[in-house]
Amino acid sequence: MGMLDGRVIVLTGSGRGIGGATAKLLAAEGASVVVNDLGVALDGTEGSVGPAQELVNEITAAGGAAVANTDDIADYDAAGNLIQQAISEFGKLDVVVNVAGILRDRMIFNLSPEDWQSVLNVHMNGTFNTSKHASVYWREQRNAEAQNRIINFTSVSGQFGAPGQPNYAAAKMGIIGLTYSCANALGRYGVTTNAISPGAATRMVGSIPEERRSGGAAAAMSPDHVARVVAYIASERSGWMNGQVIGAAGPKVTLYNKPAALQELVAFPEWELDTLQEQMEKVFKPTLEGHGR
Ligand SMILES: NC(=O)c1ccc[n+]([C@@H]2O[C@H](COP(=O)([O-])OP(=O)(O)OC[C@H]3O[C@@H](n4cnc5c(N)ncnc54)[C@H](O)[C@@H]3O)[C@@H](O)[C@H]2O)c1
Repeated sequence: MGMLDGRVIVLTGSGRGIGGATAKLLAAEGASVVVNDLGVALDGTEGSVGPAQELVNEITAAGGAAVANTDDIADYDAAGNLIQQAISEFGKLDVVVNVAGILRDRMIFNLSPEDWQSVLNVHMNGTFNTSKHASVYWREQRNAEAQNRIINFTSVSGQFGAPGQPNYAAAKMGIIGLTYSCANALGRYGVTTNAISPGAATRMVGSIPEERRSGGAAAAMSPDHVARVVAYIASERSGWMNGQVIGAAGPKVTLYNKPAALQELVAFPEWELDTLQEQMEKVFKPTLEGHGR
């Protein structure tokens, strides 16, 4: 018995990297998987059908159930086809894992509108597109007891603001907001929504200069570690967890907090400008210095 027997799972960007390792584990644990991958270079150019079909061949040769899909998840209708493919091939849909991503790293002053937009298109629009189509399907099922899942991929790059990745950081933080919103909206339809903030030695990390890598993402960090965390969240057991960001890097699993107020100042009926500046400097400044911020 696998922990995911009978589950039907769509994974975007799963022909290689973290998505690939995850698709293999989910299939080995009994899930029927739809392996979506546009087969693009790291910057999103030069698509090919290669990675998705190759991984499907590997999974089916090992006795697993998998079909390939090469739709561009940044395209709204194509993402709809992807969701429909899972339902028509395997009869239903239980889990969507939004892994697909690209990088176009530039400092903000060198970033073109095209490189800004293309990164948002894949990460943010892609995550919205599949989640939208899947949520329409789940809402129609009207099963509050279902154990359906949306599992999104965010990044420490957004959580801590990587200076050379303004487009990627913005997209990844946007995905956290989308995760919180879907978590609050879809619970009543039997869907939990959580985000993974991963660290794994893939080609994506290989493109970042060593000294700028965060989270200790060294060669020893196999994507298999991340895959196990996704497998648990994809299972029926994880229904107690909704709207969370979970770090998964090497053998470390992290529960992140949501932004919470550190301190508050209130004036009645309103602030005078000089008191406001005085009080902010007196109260907030030492707090930030104490936190090393
Ligand atoms: N590797 C890390 O340490 C790390 C750290 C933080 C966040 N992440 C995130 O984890 C996810 C996986 O990253 P990875 O390291 O495995 O990257 P990767 O480049 O190895 O894999 C990403 C896959 O997405 C596919 N893809 C890109 N655009 C697509 C599109 N429009 N439609 C369908 N498929 C598309 C690519 O072809 C590729 O196979 C990404 O969302 C990434 O931002 C990774």
